[in-house]
Amino acid sequence: MKHIFQQGTNPAKPTFLMLHGTGGNENDLLAIAAHIDPEASVLSVRGNVSENGMPRFFKRLSEGVFDMEDLKFRTEELHEFIGQAAEEHGFDRGNVIAIGYSNGANIAANLLFTYSDALKGASLHHPMVPNRDADLPDLTDVLVFIAAGTNDPICPAEESTDLEKLLKGAGAKVELHWEDFGHQLTMPEVEAAKDWYDKL
Ligand code: MLT
Repeated sequence: MKHIFQQGTNPAKPTFLMLHGTGGNENDLLAIAAHIDPEASVLSVRGNVSENGMPRFFKRLSEGVFDMEDLKFRTEELHEFIGQAAEEHGFDRGNVIAIGYSNGANIAANLLFTYSDALKGASLHHPMVPNRDADLPDLTDVLVFIAAGTNDPICPAEESTDLEKLLKGAGAKVELHWEDFGHQLTMPEVEAAKDWYDKL
């Protein structure tokens, strides 16, 4: 997959897996990674799907309605890619924290819904429940931050509260954070994500 890898200065720090929103690319979230922990390594990936020229991580049938077959295929593809990238760039596969926005948060959530050991943690910004039929793996010790907007027209409140419930039910430690904004990725929620990360 097309990506940027930046070697961190402290090998004990995690590798941030940065996953952009629809129409974004691997450059979009680099400043957020650097803000959250400038010593961490960064693997920032571009989604392999194009929706009228807009990169995405999986196909959708319409706004908020996912192509479940493609979501499964692309989740497996991303999972395999992280393993390959760990070998190629020499980072610790067991110490990967995803930071995803919107479509990127949705595929990160689906990595959690599919594999018990894909991610050590995840900061999910404006995610939805990726698959309501999933039987979640054991997520004990997985650390999740969810940032949601009370006026988010794409993610109604129950998308965030249901996601929190499902992840907690699988054993993950989840913090759900609300801002009175819409679907945009805001600086206050990035600061809240940094506070969450600093306490890990
Ligand atoms: C999705 O398709 O993943 C969600 O609707 C969010 C987005 O617009 O990308």
